[in-house]
Amino acid sequence: MTSGKNAKPPEPERRSGSGDPFLLTPGPLTTSLAVKQAMLHDLGSRDQKFVAVNARIRERLLALAGSCGEHVCVPIQGSGTFAVEAMIGSLVPADGKLLNLVNGAYGRRITRICAYANRNVTVLEAGEAMPVNPAEVDEALSEDRSVTHVCVVHCETTSGVLNPLETIARVVAAHGRLLLVDAMSGFGALPVNAADVPFAALAASSNKCLEGVPGVAFCIVRRDLIEASRGRARALSLDLHDQWQAMEGNGQWRFTPPTHVLLALEQALVELDDEGGAAGRHRRYSENCRILVDGMRALGFQTFLDDACQAPVIVTFHQPRDPAFQFERFYALLEQRGFVIYPGKLTGAATFRIGCIGRIGAADMQAAVAAVGAVIGEMGISDFTPA
Ligand SMILES: Cc1ncc(COP(=O)(O)O)c(C=O)c1O
Repeated sequence: MTSGKNAKPPEPERRSGSGDPFLLTPGPLTTSLAVKQAMLHDLGSRDQKFVAVNARIRERLLALAGSCGEHVCVPIQGSGTFAVEAMIGSLVPADGKLLNLVNGAYGRRITRICAYANRNVTVLEAGEAMPVNPAEVDEALSEDRSVTHVCVVHCETTSGVLNPLETIARVVAAHGRLLLVDAMSGFGALPVNAADVPFAALAASSNKCLEGVPGVAFCIVRRDLIEASRGRARALSLDLHDQWQAMEGNGQWRFTPPTHVLLALEQALVELDDEGGAAGRHRRYSENCRILVDGMRALGFQTFLDDACQAPVIVTFHQPRDPAFQFERFYALLEQRGFVIYPGKLTGAATFRIGCIGRIGAADMQAAVAAVGAVIGEMGISDFTPA
């Protein structure tokens, strides 16, 4: 018999294919074994084999955005923020003005990026529990004719809210302004079709719904706009025009490329095609999300968002007010069982988040909910009223 003091933590109940815990987070995410194995090669950055990988990735990303030749894809080294910053610094001119539609931390980050880049910005705040209201965007654009660009976060990962991108895009186009999209947390699963969503540019990265690994981000930009952006960026490494020109020239990157990350991304894009593209992936993530939300509600937890505006990306739950609930302990006990979750990021409510994206399926999600059930039993939580 083991005494309480010497008791071992319970064995993990479930692990991903690599033996690591499942990452139920907004990224980096659990990736497939084949994606990880794709990185077991050293390619030279000037090697024709690598140049061809790069070209194929750029083509596939354009196709995923539904572009029919009117856009270009410009990858950039680094995390997603690098692409957002490159997009704003390269496309919004010094005498332009950005209307920033904010309903979370990533929207607020765009305001900070504008301050660093010395770009004029005005903010329309929606509150963290609500999608951006297209009627308010319409009104703001009617009132302020000096706005040249509008920026929106497709899925605001702070809460998991889905903003009505297509309707916003139509409003912005009707006013003759240009739309910039932070599509980071949804691209690859929340379909964006250039034919229905008239965007000037969007930014995303490899390590979210594309199920690649971190280290590369990219912008998909209307060709006429990138052509007109020469000399506008104030940071060489984030100059989209310069990066694009180099890639168009000899297919090579200006500075050391993340070769292994790109090999992984190419494999991840093959797996996305095999799954039926963004529509297929959206189906799997929606099922993951449904299992998670239903299961957590059955245990007593309450979601922060209404179901109608919940994207199948990451779900925010209220922390229970039960004094036995401590997020750090909850997190650690879940990690022991093979599931890594995420703290909350909201300004006004005590919450935590659980992601439904990455190489995880229905059985993994059911196991995650079962693990939460076991953990709340172990912690002795019974009052689930929001804290
Ligand atoms: C909507 C959104 N925008 C931007 C970012 C920033 O990406 P990164 O952390 O890769 O720089 C994130 C990251 O989660 C995000 O969810």
